[in-house]
Amino acid sequence: MTDKTILRALRGETLPVPPVWMMRQAGRYLPEYRATRAKAGDFLSLCYTPDLAAEVTLQPIRRYGFDAAILFADILLIPQALGLDLRFVQGEGPRLSTVTTAAEVAALRPVGDIHDTLSPIYETVRILSRALPRETTLIGFAGAPWTVATYMVAGRGTPDQAPAHRFKDTDRAAFSTLIDRIAEATIDYLSAQIDAGAEVVKLFDSWAGSLKGRDFDDFALAPAARIIAELKRRHPGIPVIAFPREAKERYVGFAKAVGADAVALDNSVDADWAAANVQTAGCVQGNLAPHHLVDPANLEGQTRRIVRAFSGGPHIFNLGHGITPDADPDNVHRMLAAIRG
Ligand code: CP3
Repeated sequence: MTDKTILRALRGETLPVPPVWMMRQAGRYLPEYRATRAKAGDFLSLCYTPDLAAEVTLQPIRRYGFDAAILFADILLIPQALGLDLRFVQGEGPRLSTVTTAAEVAALRPVGDIHDTLSPIYETVRILSRALPRETTLIGFAGAPWTVATYMVAGRGTPDQAPAHRFKDTDRAAFSTLIDRIAEATIDYLSAQIDAGAEVVKLFDSWAGSLKGRDFDDFALAPAARIIAELKRRHPGIPVIAFPREAKERYVGFAKAVGADAVALDNSVDADWAAANVQTAGCVQGNLAPHHLVDPANLEGQTRRIVRAFSGGPHIFNLGHGITPDADPDNVHRMLAAIRG
């Protein structure tokens, strides 16, 4: 059990070949995913139907033999469990009811009630922990509070997260209460995933890069540190991957500051710089740009460059962001061949 390669890398071991998985590895670029999604009817039904969610989680493992499977779900299930309306509009993305005032923060459902909504997700984890090959690590996940809050405040994805910045800058106390509420829900959600069989958890802070200075400390670092400390208190030894996407120079020291076992690097980060400035403190994950799986002209070269840059320390190979629907599934085989030789 402890010889799973992902767990070894997360403990700080330098492996001759880095273990590999991909963000959004279960997704629309795979015909078998599109077929199962059609059977479910829509994306949220797929998330909440444990047999089908487990099936799409397993599809990329069967096809590619990745070293990790990531639970199929979404970071926006937490806002839904806290009482917001959520739907996904085909071709446009998520739409939520919004939270923009102290009164609306106070009106969220109690954190203790989230499992009423989220219990099917734990069932998916239980199915997966029985069904996965013995060498494959099961990763659970949640969104980090800032990123989740940006969707709750705006009611949708935004290029600059302006509505959340406005809330933070006009009523910092109420916004902090919202962040605390999301953090508490996230602790209980991830803790339940771990109880169900998740062996690693990952916190996705996709919009961390739009926080600067003290805001980064208060709304990216502090909530992640709180969540991770409490998870490790409840589940000693549980490894955590943090993903403060586009944090740029704030990647330096991030893992230590939040108590994470690894940081995931987005593809704006130079691999040689990160090897010298981030990997010296522990395991890194990343960071091939997803477009190489669409246009493979430099796929093998870039893949090998990343493997080489991080070969002197603990490394989990991944993309720098999720694989896109227009990626060619055959290119993933080429990437794997370049990694595994
Ligand atoms: O990585 C995985 O395979 C695990 C499952 C997973 C999904 N979303 C499935 C999904 C994970 C870890 C996420 C995280 C997530 N969700 C993030 C953070 C990571 C990132 O991408 O920055 C965010 C911001 C979301 C919110 C979200 N979910 C948006 C904005 C969208 C719409 C955009 C899009 O790609 O369609 C989703 C939908 C979504 N989540 C899909 C998948 C496979 C596509 C849904 C479909 O089948 O139509």
